[in-house]
Amino acid sequence: MMRLQRYLAQAGVASRRKAEGLITAGAVSVNGAIVRELGTSVDPAADRVEVDGRPIAAVAEHSYYVLHKPFGVVTTMHDPQGRRTVADVMRAHGVRTRVVPVGRLDYDTAGVLLLTDDGDLAHVLTHPRFGVEKTYRATVRGRLEPQAVAAMCAGVTLDDGRAAPALLRVVAARGLRSTVDVTIHEGKNRQVRRMFEQVDHPVIDLVRLRFGPVALGALAPGALRAASEREVRALRSILAAAS
Ligand code: URA
Repeated sequence: MMRLQRYLAQAGVASRRKAEGLITAGAVSVNGAIVRELGTSVDPAADRVEVDGRPIAAVAEHSYYVLHKPFGVVTTMHDPQGRRTVADVMRAHGVRTRVVPVGRLDYDTAGVLLLTDDGDLAHVLTHPRFGVEKTYRATVRGRLEPQAVAAMCAGVTLDDGRAAPALLRVVAARGLRSTVDVTIHEGKNRQVRRMFEQVDHPVIDLVRLRFGPVALGALAPGALRAASEREVRALRSILAAAS
């Protein structure tokens, strides 16, 4: 059993607060009867919930976590070489559910990594066709000149094909190194590192700041948080648009 407003929020109808508004406004019915009581419990497996007469299918409860993957951790559940994995990090946080990482960050890349047991969502978010945007902060060797920026924005050719144009924002370009935010919507292997290699600015340090609607914010390396209701809703709307 779960509260009606939670049922509606999980199904992606509205935020929990807005769902409460729908209930008190008399827009929501359970098994054909309008319900205005906010504390009402529903059984997702048995009750029929409608909003303005439109049936709202129950969404199974899933777990969604945001991890700041530290450097020196492999994005797999098991590493034959015995290196530290994201599964080890999740266990250290006491997470026992069978969540898997959505996509991959290199061993030597840090930053935002989503983990979930929502298989449909994980599939859509990693499929290149849906082009989820990712932003990385790269520290690169050398002073990044406008020609290199222009080349990357136009799209550089990697040995496994052309990398689509990237959005670049130079944060600092002085002396021996530059800092630049790069947004891409593909996920080729080591893509950001290879793009910078193509313009002769090898990456020294790489941190993912954003994965679609999920931002790293102030989450410390190694720290974990539950994805917010708003983030889950935004992620699931990508899935809804894809199906
Ligand atoms: N691009 C890279 O080069 N490495 C990553 O981990 C992710 C994107």
